[in-house]
Amino acid sequence: MADDTTAPRIVIEAGQTGLVLAVGDDGRLHQVAFGPGMADRRPVLPVVLYPLAYPTFGEEPLREPALRVTQAHGELSTRLRFEGLSTDAHAAGQVVRVNMVERVAPLSVSLCFRTWPAYHLLEQWIEVTNDADAEITLHRAAATAPAFAGTAPHLTHWGGGWAGEWTETTELLTAGTKTVASAGGTRPSLYRPPVVVVATDGPATETSGEVGVCSVEWGGDIRFDAETFLHGHVRLIAGHQGRGAERVLAPGERFVSPVARWVCSDAGIGPASRALHRFAREQVIRDGTEIRATVANTWEAIFFALDPAVLSTQVDRAADLGAELFLLDDGWFGTAYPRNDDTTGLGDWEVDRVKLPDGLGPIIDHTIERGLRFGLWVEPEMVNPKSALYEAHPDWVISEPGRERRQERNQLVLDVLQPEVRTFVVGVIDKVLQDHPRISYLKWDANRDITEPGSTSLAPHRQSHLAMDRVLATWDLMAEVARKHPTVELMLCASGGGRSDLGTLRWFHEVWTSDNTDPVDRVRIQWGASHLLPASVLAAHVTRWGNRPLAFGCAVAMSGRFGFDLDLTALTAEEWETCRSAAVTYADLRDLVQQGDLHRLVSPIGTTRGAVAYVSPDGERAVVFAFRLPGDDGTTPAFALPWLDGGKAYDARDRTPGPTDGPAAGKVALVGQILVWPVGEPPVASVVEITRRR
Ligand code: GLA
Repeated sequence: MADDTTAPRIVIEAGQTGLVLAVGDDGRLHQVAFGPGMADRRPVLPVVLYPLAYPTFGEEPLREPALRVTQAHGELSTRLRFEGLSTDAHAAGQVVRVNMVERVAPLSVSLCFRTWPAYHLLEQWIEVTNDADAEITLHRAAATAPAFAGTAPHLTHWGGGWAGEWTETTELLTAGTKTVASAGGTRPSLYRPPVVVVATDGPATETSGEVGVCSVEWGGDIRFDAETFLHGHVRLIAGHQGRGAERVLAPGERFVSPVARWVCSDAGIGPASRALHRFAREQVIRDGTEIRATVANTWEAIFFALDPAVLSTQVDRAADLGAELFLLDDGWFGTAYPRNDDTTGLGDWEVDRVKLPDGLGPIIDHTIERGLRFGLWVEPEMVNPKSALYEAHPDWVISEPGRERRQERNQLVLDVLQPEVRTFVVGVIDKVLQDHPRISYLKWDANRDITEPGSTSLAPHRQSHLAMDRVLATWDLMAEVARKHPTVELMLCASGGGRSDLGTLRWFHEVWTSDNTDPVDRVRIQWGASHLLPASVLAAHVTRWGNRPLAFGCAVAMSGRFGFDLDLTALTAEEWETCRSAAVTYADLRDLVQQGDLHRLVSPIGTTRGAVAYVSPDGERAVVFAFRLPGDDGTTPAFALPWLDGGKAYDARDRTPGPTDGPAAGKVALVGQILVWPVGEPPVASVVEITRRR
């Protein structure tokens, strides 16, 4: 064997996130190093002893494969050898393709990488080409499969279903494989959002520990498999969920996987999150560096009971309160089957003239006259069987022949693989916006999972293509809508945060984080969501959920993209003053919340208090949100603000919303660089602005 330390190395460097590969004498591709600051690493062992860069079924028979193929002539094994490398530049980094071929079967596989050094971010995806003269089946083709050396690997992941989004779990990875996967297709992030954190040596903190944050850019089901091997090493295989999504590739056909993104840090999760947020704002999210408006939504206020006079009053109150966008949620449509509850009307996007005799025009005009923008709710991919649309086109839904069409929320999913259905869906949006050109915001909802996953547009042996093709077709529709209506902002909603992914957000401005707006729960939900998404896209509205003090609810909502979802005519004078002061303060501080650097200070997971801060890039200004939750006995020690420069002096100003000054009035104190908690009966919050003294 040649001297392995001189084996050709493939170095892929994305700032802190580095990957080093090397080719063994036998052509197998090994990973020499992966993680923070690894790019300089050379093999210290024979290359053959390093883990494979991309494990395949039949090559590593005892481990979880990243790639599993049934070859053209039925063989189950895939054994790759390195063939070559190409490197190109893109605007902000490099694109590296590591080309591999199967040793026997006609199959090519490229491991593709795109580096974003300014964000310490590495993207990876896989391309598989069928070079045979017959079909092959791709069972699994994960985007990435790096291994981490460590002592006590921990995995942090999130999920919990409707109203339980972003419930956080951090666990020691013991022997075996831990799988974290979403399901249902249309609102996968309700169950498992597409992000995990791997920490190599015990649970990481915000400021210490070696970590890799991995997210998958995919609007459908995702899957992470964390498999331990040797003593404390772990490999994370990440990508789309392959089960039920098998791909049949025709001769010559190429499969391109969704992209996985890695950000690594050797100083805990905080730096990785801040880099990921910056990347998300600057490179992914639509208009991601622009400030978001304060929204007043009708849903929790009036549900389906729309009435012109009621709406007009809500608009007036929203304007007086300082909201900037009035969002008319569900219930405005349906003629033959009026939308008076969730059993009817989806699919019939005509204004209900019984509820709104003069249509939407007068309320839109009134909203704009009062200085607010107008937004509207749609759910264009779905249909209630009780609708004119379904009566006319029962064949337009995802279904399997002869099988019962199970309903969730009394609705079915339209099959966007059918060309007429795609035309219809885009047409829904086009019509709404053509009829009402002054609408400048849409909430695009999707409220059920896929069952009976069949499409008449797919051949019988390709029915499993629905899982991925539906996502791609939906993305095409979303892209078309964004292109045709460039000035209309879009909120992504799926029964709450069911579509919280950095793939779909390319066409959307924000997500509805969760239908659960109890601010106590929201402290933890928004904490979890911040591991993927910046606060600018986490819609957070003040509601009556949980019957918490409105000052507390306002403070929690102010730590995200702020808004209201409550009957604005039913506020007491004190509540009104609280909400009004929150809106005014938020307008003053939102550049920090929406565009600043997030520092998660005190974790609310498994505790009774939480704190986060948003800091201007130069560190001169910041806003700190501190929450004491029910059960907190007030003995929690004060906490430090790690970004403060010890050589400089800072002032703290209480910005807690409330009728006069907030419940923390006079109590906010920056003692050196330590901040005290709000006093009073929990739940209680303080909002503190920190400014460097001039
Ligand atoms: C879903 C959304 C809610 C609301 C309702 C309307 O549940 O998550 O915010 O828009 O639909 O029916």
